[in-house]
Amino acid sequence: DWKMQDVLEEEIKVIKDMVGSEDHVICALSGGVDSAVAATLVHKAIGDRLHCVFVDNGLLRYKERERVMETFQRDLHLPVTCVDATEQFLSKLKGVIDPEAKRKIIGREFICIFDDFAQDLEHKLGKKPFFLVQGTLYPDVIESCPPPGSGRTHSHTIKSHHNVGGLPKDMKLKLIEPLKLLFKDEVRELGKIMNVPEAFLKRHPFPGPGLAVRVLGDVTEGNALDILRQVDEIFIQSIRDAGLYDSIWQAFAVFLPIRSVGVQGDQRTHSHVVALRAVTSQDGMTADWYNFEHKFLDDVARKICNSIRGVNRVVQDITSKPPSTIEWE
Ligand code: XMP
Repeated sequence: DWKMQDVLEEEIKVIKDMVGSEDHVICALSGGVDSAVAATLVHKAIGDRLHCVFVDNGLLRYKERERVMETFQRDLHLPVTCVDATEQFLSKLKGVIDPEAKRKIIGREFICIFDDFAQDLEHKLGKKPFFLVQGTLYPDVIESCPPPGSGRTHSHTIKSHHNVGGLPKDMKLKLIEPLKLLFKDEVRELGKIMNVPEAFLKRHPFPGPGLAVRVLGDVTEGNALDILRQVDEIFIQSIRDAGLYDSIWQAFAVFLPIRSVGVQGDQRTHSHVVALRAVTSQDGMTADWYNFEHKFLDDVARKICNSIRGVNRVVQDITSKPPSTIEWE
């Protein structure tokens, strides 16, 4: 694609001019497409003066840390530090039920970890990192301040956007936002010409607070997170096997904080209920629930109950947005 090749070269030049030949740049990778593409672009411009961090908050999906780290390192060759902060996040979330409270805690912990990362780096380098990369897209920019008319060359309104839970405000870092004039499909195109794997570029969106908004109630209760990860993996893998992944905007499982009676073998059980959610959408603002075939749902539900201890009931969410949101929280 010629246009994207031009965008790529132009952006690399802009970043080189901005950062110069001495300064260092930091970037928080969320595991999503935008931060990965933004970081890859900056890495092409300034090499290993880019320092990325990926935080495992204990709220990631099945094998997600291993999977995204492999993409960052093997496919994208990004210099990235992985911080396992599972204990730190989960201990703060213990007993917390209110979804907004969960979001605040997660945002705050993330800032602490990011701050530590920047300070460690400062010690190592003997000077402060000077720039921060963010994967802000054009819709984020217009959302924060709609430009007069709608000329897309308008680029002066920058929102302090946070893809990964908000960032320290007193760090005095200059922002690099190489994607801020692009739409999502253009970011994917840009990723493609930089050899970001197709499967990574097509991944369904995943919320910053992760599985904390998909375990209703206390996320640390019992083995809710583990059960949810396994159920979710069966659901997603079944969707992939059926060739449906790319026709769906987002699909996931939700762990409900209730139990219901069931019968397995000749035993009465009193076990967990999980919900399956799949929607089609253009932009996440509105969404339609996805209608699977009877056999698909039957197979998935059987597989979940047969292979995951502690689950005896599977329900499907058949509401659109509105009136529901996509996530349950
Ligand atoms: P709702 O649930 O509001 O979600 O219909 C709309 C879309 O946004 C995603 N979502 C988030 N993404 N950080 C994110 O990066 C968040 O805190 C967050 N909350 C919801 C959701 O998965 C859906 O795609």
